[in-house]
Amino acid sequence: MAYDVLYLSQDDVISLGIKMEEVINEVKIGLSFKGQGKVELPPKPGVHPRDDCYIHAMPCWVGGSVDAAGVKWVAGYPKNLEAGLPYNNGVFCLNDTETGVIKSIMDANWMTTWRTGAAAALGAKYFAPPDASAVSVIGLGTIGKIVLRAVKTLFPAVTQVKLYDPLEGQANKYVLEMSALFPDITFERASTMQEACDGSDIVTTNAPILEKPNRQLVRSWLKRDCLCISSDYDSTLHENVAGESVAFCCDDRGQYLWTQEKGIYFQKGYPKGSGIYADMGEICAGKREPIRTGLRVCVFMGIASHDVMVARLIYRKATEAKAGQWLKL
Ligand SMILES: NC(=O)c1ccc[n+]([C@@H]2O[C@H](COP(=O)([O-])OP(=O)(O)OC[C@H]3O[C@@H](n4cnc5c(N)ncnc54)[C@H](O)[C@@H]3O)[C@@H](O)[C@H]2O)c1
Repeated sequence: MAYDVLYLSQDDVISLGIKMEEVINEVKIGLSFKGQGKVELPPKPGVHPRDDCYIHAMPCWVGGSVDAAGVKWVAGYPKNLEAGLPYNNGVFCLNDTETGVIKSIMDANWMTTWRTGAAAALGAKYFAPPDASAVSVIGLGTIGKIVLRAVKTLFPAVTQVKLYDPLEGQANKYVLEMSALFPDITFERASTMQEACDGSDIVTTNAPILEKPNRQLVRSWLKRDCLCISSDYDSTLHENVAGESVAFCCDDRGQYLWTQEKGIYFQKGYPKGSGIYADMGEICAGKREPIRTGLRVCVFMGIASHDVMVARLIYRKATEAKAGQWLKL
């Protein structure tokens, strides 16, 4: 028997005008439910057709009063930048939890970008001092932009931003786009990664994820009291940053340890089981205390509860606004 599915293109999703505050709120609820043991979140299976590339399946059920389930099929290809294509590409499939029937198939590029920014902002919410004003952005592509946008949403005092990207022209493009959004921010283009880290309260890394990581960014480049937030796994932060932190936080312990045990990422010097201070589920559920001094490190792999929560929000807004197209499946 054929049934109707709501198809939402990227333009449909963007047309909903969803605000960063709303995305942060959804991601936080998903994390808090995860911390309360109400989320089914298996590790991401993936295939790797080319070097430094992945295509991941990310299924999840957020239970309790949310009761939403779905799966994201998402690819990450660093060389897409040269081809003018997004690094991350994907679709999300939202299921009815009562019948399993597919309710919606939607673009996942927008949600991947925005929820990654939101997750970084939540890392800052719990691990940065409220008056943090100086931020470094390492890697100035799509994620480098959204991370600053999200952090600035929760930290309006951020007015000094240092930038680094090895690709010529990226910093200028970044400043053009971001200064239109945040005219109160002073941007400084650094010529080295070290220079970009100097004196910042929050250092964010958003470079390509590499199978053989460079891990250039070392402890001695950072202030004594500094929060590092990585969206690029262990590709940029040296093991002496992760290893010497007073609080090492991941988004999901199970996912982090599974990846480490598989021998893929977070090898050689990255914290193992008892070296993890908390995951963001425990933090958002109030089971672990925030820490705002010393070297703190948040390494966020991106978890499927974020996507389910944002997909549910998109679906609700789209049905209210009568956006998208109903298709027979
Ligand atoms: N953790 C998550 O939840 C999550 C979600 C989405 C994307 N990501 C990751 O975020 C990263 C950035 O994605 P994007 O969409 O912004 O890609 P992008 O291609 O738009 O931007 C990447 C930028 O990094 C720069 N870069 C390359 N080598 C660098 C280096 N050594 N140091 C600093 N910068 C360097 C590139 O020049 C480019 O400007 C990727 O690794 C991607 O997989 C993580």
